[in-house]
Amino acid sequence: MSQTNTDARSPIYWDPFNPEISANPYGLYRRLRDELPLYYNDVHDFYTVSRFSDVDSCLLDAKTFSSARSDILEFIKAGVEVPPGMFIWLDPPAHTAYRNVVSRVFTPKRMNALEEQIRAYCARCLDPLVGSDRIDFIADLGAKLPGGVIGMLLGIPDEDRDMIRAKVDESLRTESGKPMDVSQGTYRGDGFEDYVEWRVKHPSNDLMTELLNMEFQDETGTRRKLTREEILVFVSVLAGAGNETTSRLIGWIGKVLSDHPGQRREIAEDPALIPAAIEEILRVEPPGTQVARYVTRDVEIHNQTVPAGSILQCLVAAANRDDRRFPDGDRFDIHRKGAPAITFGRGIHSCIGSALARVEGRVALDELLKRFPDWTVDLENSQLSSSSTTRGWDRLPAAVPRGHRAAAGSHQAAAAFTTEQPAPLVSLGGETWQCTLQTPAGPQEMTVQLVREGETVTGRIDSPMGGEAISNGQALGERITWTMQVSKPMSIKLSFDVKVEGNQMTGKVKLGLFGSAALSGYRA
Ligand code: HEM
Repeated sequence: MSQTNTDARSPIYWDPFNPEISANPYGLYRRLRDELPLYYNDVHDFYTVSRFSDVDSCLLDAKTFSSARSDILEFIKAGVEVPPGMFIWLDPPAHTAYRNVVSRVFTPKRMNALEEQIRAYCARCLDPLVGSDRIDFIADLGAKLPGGVIGMLLGIPDEDRDMIRAKVDESLRTESGKPMDVSQGTYRGDGFEDYVEWRVKHPSNDLMTELLNMEFQDETGTRRKLTREEILVFVSVLAGAGNETTSRLIGWIGKVLSDHPGQRREIAEDPALIPAAIEEILRVEPPGTQVARYVTRDVEIHNQTVPAGSILQCLVAAANRDDRRFPDGDRFDIHRKGAPAITFGRGIHSCIGSALARVEGRVALDELLKRFPDWTVDLENSQLSSSSTTRGWDRLPAAVPRGHRAAAGSHQAAAAFTTEQPAPLVSLGGETWQCTLQTPAGPQEMTVQLVREGETVTGRIDSPMGGEAISNGQALGERITWTMQVSKPMSIKLSFDVKVEGNQMTGKVKLGLFGSAALSGYRA
């Protein structure tokens, strides 16, 4: 029976494997949020939360909602054995130990340093299309850029990069209407062995060489290097988590801005709107639609008991359009202000590649608009792809009127997102936190170092805008307050008021006279 309609009288049935639902899920998501905020699917045996506040709090509670059996429904059901290093599918303390390693190499500084390379790569993909009257957002850019960028990061030679994307894409693909086949071994890093061996013999200044050489403290307290198996799994996690999602983002840029030509023209006229446009595209069409968790204890949600041993799907794509959080949540509005979406997850597993994905999205849109300020997607010849973790386009051709602007040089939009590099991070020997500040101009990634001595706190904050020491730091139990004077982009005093709970930091930052912004972070 097809139960995908949004008629309030029909029974609600949500099934992540149903292509009819996947084609247009948002009416059903609204019904889930309004009528069944805790939904149970008895065909595939899982629970679902869809309201923003529920998705948010479940993802923040990593003890009750564990990742240790995977964050994908089919893998949890299959009881896969999680290999060492597969930190996206681990709980603390092993997750914390591995995540610390990745945070050390995956810094906002390194990500932002890639911007010019990403711009050049986009130009290489798009310049040959200048003069034609059709482009395909996936074949021409989405399928190439993310794999290319991960390849740049890891130091994988150009010729092998497309292979990586094809491999990951295949491993996450579901046959329409069916759960994915979990018997494949890609999540173990199969296929990357030759590259790692080659890099051992040919060290360079890439992230792979750093991973091979770095020492870390594992969850048993032992100081050691990563094993070859762990490195293979790391590469596989980074390639898997960063490839398909970002490719989907590029497809959604094409689709959403084709549906909203007025806003697209506005962005083309004023490229400073690009960062806000990318945030709004990520909100209305998050490439990762849901993440799953294993429930470790009986827990009450909306007055019902979700028993220990259940699987809970956190429906990010529904949460992002919750009117309770985002007024008129289905409306696409690049001028929307306020609360950040949950597209990159929350809590200890929140996306470590979000800064990179954002740079890729912004640069891709900028470079597209420079060459093709107008486009109309050809839906008849498009193909929406089906996977139980992501949603997006496999094929998205578009008509581009001839006579568009010539591809050329730099763009003012570059000024809208950072090109400045932070000062090298000098360790102060205290505690280090990777934080995101949701400023009105978009999220700002920062590294916060705090040194506590009794109630006195000193330290510094480094971000792509620069580095500054903190002042007036005070620790009162779990609460820490401090101030910081910044001079860029304008002179302003920031007052931080945060709460530290275990490895998480949440709080507010008063931005001088400009209101306040939410801060969230994790211990690096
Ligand atoms: C638009 C693009 C992207 C989206 C929508 C996205 C989304 C997410 C989400 C929702 C999570 C949390 C998963 C969970 O809680 O179980 C996550 C985690 C992660 N992402 Fe991304 N991601 C994107 C791009 C990237 C990129 C470019 C990379 C790296 C190259 C990356 C690497 C990771 C890693 C390693 C994790 C696991 C973090 C942990 O478990 O501590 N992601 N991502």
